Amino acid sequence: MSFELENTVPWGRTLAEYKSMFNLGECDLSKRIISFGDGPASFNSEMNMLGKKVTSLDPIYQFSKEELRQRIDETKDIVMDQMTENKDNFIWTTIKGLSELEQLRMGAMSNFLADYEIGLNENRYLMHELPESTNFKAQNFDLGLSSHFLLLYSKLGLDFHIKSISEMLRVCKEIRIFPILNLNAEPSELLPKIEKVFKKDFELNIEPVNYEFQKDGNKMLRIQRR
Ligand SMILES: C[S@@+](CC[C@H](N)C(=O)[O-])C[C@H]1O[C@@H](n2cnc3c(N)ncnc32)[C@H](O)[C@@H]1O
Repeated sequence: MSFELENTVPWGRTLAEYKSMFNLGECDLSKRIISFGDGPASFNSEMNMLGKKVTSLDPIYQFSKEELRQRIDETKDIVMDQMTENKDNFIWTTIKGLSELEQLRMGAMSNFLADYEIGLNENRYLMHELPESTNFKAQNFDLGLSSHFLLLYSKLGLDFHIKSISEMLRVCKEIRIFPILNLNAEPSELLPKIEKVFKKDFELNIEPVNYEFQKDGNKMLRIQRR
């Protein structure tokens, strides 16, 4: 099935948010990092400005800068209306309110757009749709990330998650997934089943992080080779 831009709602986070969602210390930032479902986040662009290379994968990278800009403009108000409606499900301490949230997200996506064509040329943004395999060799990366995709979209199902996580673990020595809640802000129902499948060959840990925007959403899943 082809990936339709009109079915996507682009929404991107910043490097500061990635650092706190994934407990990324200075040492982590110098690792070979790949980020799955990275979308219009400014993580890659901000890391690149610091002289650090991230490889970002997402199906939206098949579209042009203009197409992505248009889609961001079309959907911004829809997302902000939904956030207003569900305001009580979130914690407004770091991000102080809806207008700060809008500024933060639009700023991140504008950084992404400014970097997008350069990053495509440098192969920092690669079109890829999970759970498809990538062309990378085994353990090509130290660290693989999934922010606000796996576990959050639990409706994609267990099989999708097992295949996706298996591919991430093939190309990475370690992966981190944030959040571990689903879209209803409940603990992802897939987590116990995923733990069961991978615990035989990998070490799985659920770790607290400093980032909490979804209520009770301050935990990430880390999976490492034994
Ligand atoms: C909520 S956004 C998160 C973007 C970014 N990671 C962040 O936290 O700011 C979810 C992303 O998952 C991407 N996505 C959707 N289906 C995907 C798939 N099958 N494989 C990989 N990414 C996918 C979307 O295009 C979108 O960019």
